[in-house]
Amino acid sequence: MNETNLHGGVKWQSPSNIALVKYWGKSPKGVQIPQNPSISLTLSQCRTETSVFYEESDRFGLHFRFDGKENPEFQTKIADFLKSQMPRFSFLNKMDLHIESHNSFPHSSGIASSASSMSALVLCLLDIERMVTGASGIDMKEASRIARLASGSACRSVFPKSSLWGLTEAFAGSSDEYAVSLENEIHPVFKTLHDSILIVSDAKKAVSSRAGHALMDTNPYATTRYTVANRNIADLSAALRSGDLEAFIKITESEAMQLHALMMCSNPSFILMKPNTLRIVNTLYEFRRETDIPVCFTLDAGPNVHLLYPDQHAEMVERFIMDELERYCHEGRWIPDQVGDGPSRC
Ligand code: PMV
Repeated sequence: MNETNLHGGVKWQSPSNIALVKYWGKSPKGVQIPQNPSISLTLSQCRTETSVFYEESDRFGLHFRFDGKENPEFQTKIADFLKSQMPRFSFLNKMDLHIESHNSFPHSSGIASSASSMSALVLCLLDIERMVTGASGIDMKEASRIARLASGSACRSVFPKSSLWGLTEAFAGSSDEYAVSLENEIHPVFKTLHDSILIVSDAKKAVSSRAGHALMDTNPYATTRYTVANRNIADLSAALRSGDLEAFIKITESEAMQLHALMMCSNPSFILMKPNTLRIVNTLYEFRRETDIPVCFTLDAGPNVHLLYPDQHAEMVERFIMDELERYCHEGRWIPDQVGDGPSRC
């Protein structure tokens, strides 16, 4: 190394997000183009912190550590992504990168971390580019576009509160290539919505999302699904704007059930819920009937249950979780999360 070599470090934290209208199925129209638009809430507690130390070198080099340890599986995924981005970030060809990544949420909590980790990594790359080129800021639309190429849902993590990804008539400016922020479009009740994540199982996913998306290519209900998803986008957008919790609950729960129903109808088929997932859902229905509290659930492609509820009901719902639902959680574990402010430089 000589004195003129470029070197430095950047650090970003980025949150995970939970989809309300689900992205499930990739379009053959391009790389990571969704078959239907999706809407998500940005979380605050479940996030990844990533630091990248870079040093000019005669070739590309990558040293990756997750939670202080080497992780060959993540290393390969990140190396492949960085190599695919070399035409976009030409400085990568001659950089030695030391990447350290850490999740704030418990390791093996069954919570997919690709959205938070890939968006954090992309923000670090754009920050390095900013330093190398002397540009003034980071374009979040570009961050979302590149994050999408690493992991579809990651493109929704770069904005605070809520995001929409996918072209739809419901939103001017929406795109299949990047997400747009819904922060200024949603009613205040959704900006502080709670998401308590009930860990039914901490096992690795039975089907990767890549394989899951591919199953939609031959799913007999695919065309109907994309039509319904588009309608749900329009209806949910209206509910998010007006603060209509009843419509919000109906659409959100229907989307979770559809995602799982699609997997059950795939070939091969998968049942990703566990008996305790259903026990939680049924106990929740009963609680909602008895109390009239607007609390609902959504599910990712796994058995864990996300309970969504307004801030003003937090005390009652958390008491309900502790009294009635903790018993169905793996080792009694749940993560109290809430809609949050999006990524930041650390
Ligand atoms: O971003 P991917 O490829 O991991 O797919 C995400 C798929 C779901 O989490 C099931 C739904 C979604 O929209 O986040």
